[in-house]
Amino acid sequence: MRKKIVAGNWKMNKTLQEGLELAKEVNSKVKANHAKEVTVVIGTPFIHLSEVSKVVDPDIVAISAQNCATEASGAYTGEVSAAMIASTGSRYVILGHSERRSYYGETDEILAKKVERALENNLEIIFCVGEVLAERENGKHFEVVESQLVNGLFNLTAEQFSHIVIAYEPVWAIGTGKTASSAQAEEMHAFIRKTIAGKYGQEVAEATSILYGGSCNPKNADELFSQPDVDGGLIGGASLKSDDFIAIVKARQNH
Ligand code: PGA
Repeated sequence: MRKKIVAGNWKMNKTLQEGLELAKEVNSKVKANHAKEVTVVIGTPFIHLSEVSKVVDPDIVAISAQNCATEASGAYTGEVSAAMIASTGSRYVILGHSERRSYYGETDEILAKKVERALENNLEIIFCVGEVLAERENGKHFEVVESQLVNGLFNLTAEQFSHIVIAYEPVWAIGTGKTASSAQAEEMHAFIRKTIAGKYGQEVAEATSILYGGSCNPKNADELFSQPDVDGGLIGGASLKSDDFIAIVKARQNH
């Protein structure tokens, strides 16, 4: 069966000290109501990874980076490689977030390279896809998501693809307080699963976790997670307070 995952994406928030506090709180609250069937991940800034990995139990909370370099090593000032991320004890990396795509010009080609580097270093990848509002209004959302999947991921082998978690994040719902309805989320998740099945077969598609992201919070998580193809969430704003984040983890446990 595919994994149920609740992953926090802290984005560019929290100093190191604040981040350590939050990570400790999350760890102890997850531990207190540990249900093994939900994988809990926190995506911290690079600078926090190594310290945070010392204050969480690896079987309780997994750590994720939010990006990695396209190249393996060398003269790339300011970049952080997938090998460096793995060396901190992080198990995941978020790639293709819409903020990276739109503010930092990350194209499908750039992302395909980052995916390769992450896989070479045995990282699990949370790969984000999603349309902007105008694309949805023009009925292009399925086409856009399909091309992000094909161009970013479909050069992988089925074995490599088993290390991919998809996060569907409609850009118009990120940080806006506007959530996709559970029907809109389910419709897209089912489409993503069908697209994966078309490339890799039904078995791989059934084993792939597909997370919803975009203003997911303790109030709407339950309804979103009740959908058959919504396997969990990628949580931004609500991952910055341990109580909210844990409430979402609990909502995932309940289904
Ligand atoms: P949000 O962010 O939950 O604050 O909308 C989600 C994300 O961008 O991953």
